[in-house]
Amino acid sequence: MSKKTEISFPTEKIKEGKIEVIVPKLNAYKSKASDYAPSKAPVFYNPIMELNRDFTILAVKSFQKIIKKDIVFCEPLASSGIRCVRLAAEVPHIKKIILGDINSNAIKLSIINVKANGFDNIIKIYNKDANLLLSQYGAPKKRLDVIDIDPFGSPVLYFDTALRALCNNGMLAITATDLAPLCGVHPKACIRKYGGKPLRTEYCQEIAIRILSGCIIATAAKYDIGTRLLFSYSSDHYLRVYVQIKYGAKEADKSIASLGYLIHCFGCFYRESVKYPFSKKIEICPKCGSKLDWSGPLWLGKISNKEFCEMMEEENKYKAFKNNRKIRKFLSLLKAEEDGPITYFVVDKICDKLGLPVPSVVKIIQKLQDDGFTALPTHFNPRGIRTNAQASKVKNLIKKYALEQVNNKK
Ligand SMILES: C[S@@+](CC[C@H](N)C(=O)[O-])C[C@H]1O[C@@H](n2cnc3c(N)ncnc32)[C@H](O)[C@@H]1O
Ligand SMILES: [Zn+2]
Repeated sequence: MSKKTEISFPTEKIKEGKIEVIVPKLNAYKSKASDYAPSKAPVFYNPIMELNRDFTILAVKSFQKIIKKDIVFCEPLASSGIRCVRLAAEVPHIKKIILGDINSNAIKLSIINVKANGFDNIIKIYNKDANLLLSQYGAPKKRLDVIDIDPFGSPVLYFDTALRALCNNGMLAITATDLAPLCGVHPKACIRKYGGKPLRTEYCQEIAIRILSGCIIATAAKYDIGTRLLFSYSSDHYLRVYVQIKYGAKEADKSIASLGYLIHCFGCFYRESVKYPFSKKIEICPKCGSKLDWSGPLWLGKISNKEFCEMMEEENKYKAFKNNRKIRKFLSLLKAEEDGPITYFVVDKICDKLGLPVPSVVKIIQKLQDDGFTALPTHFNPRGIRTNAQASKVKNLIKKYALEQVNNKK
């Protein structure tokens, strides 16, 4: 083994998707059950992110059907190289893959993994800072088709260079794991990083995706680039957003036209979305008179595209993944959610406030639909209901079914 690929830490071989790769032996970095081994290992590897990588495969395959050309893919924070190797093995018509990481141990593993899987002809490996690497592609004729940013914590540091390095109609995939700022636990950090105020509501994950998307859209707009959301979701400890970009000031104007704010009442669950300019009239809740709170600027449009979800569903029919059923469920929920309004109610949260037991979510959704409202489950929360019914209507139904449940037990 050459010095370039000498590994001085415990590793193991794992299988994911169609490939086998060497990753750090996570058990060797766990001294107690609560230890988070992926961040203690010399090279980051998280088996939970298999779903995230599966979705990358589906999204790139679907995207390829849209742009109809061989793809140049770049992952500038690639760690062991697992995602790039999977992409080379599982997505047809890949022209070239640019793999980068600042950590020399990650590069050593990547070199071994790329070679062992026979992809050294299409995967080029760089031991470089991600912004430095991306900036090499930020000029006409050098630009890339797909860029995947999967960092520790916030991806915001890479938005500018990634957007500049994408070609017209290219796709950007972003992971964010800094949920504490984005979900409103550390609002100042969120405002600082993303330029949007979060809010610790029961639907804070949706707000988080909207703030993250809003920030990508606003960053792209600086370069006269418009942005179309293809697919986004929240799972485990992270958020993921896929956008397609389109060059042109008009495209950028169209995208930023759907930025705005969410108004929320912590007294009665009332919520409303408003576009610019932020009106002073909405300081007091029109339903209960409590002081309103707000979040934004954020993206107010659809957070996924139905046709794109359908294309991914089609790709998932081959059942290539261990997570096949989970993916199917995600996609069917996400697709249906597109017909629903912005934000959702969480039954447990309302029951907590009303001091009632939690009734069946399915029953409430059914009753809302029977009464002529849009009512849908959401992938964000199994107890969530996305509906155009007013908060008071939802609360009354919850009360009715919760009390029925109590009386039936007597
Ligand atoms: C969350 S891990 C990536 C995981 C990988 N995408 C996967 O699917 O397994 C983040 C990686 O970013 C790398 N990194 C951190 N800062 C960097 C920088 N400024 N430039 C390039 N890589 C960096 C770390 O070494 C780490 O390998
Ligand atoms: Zn209110």
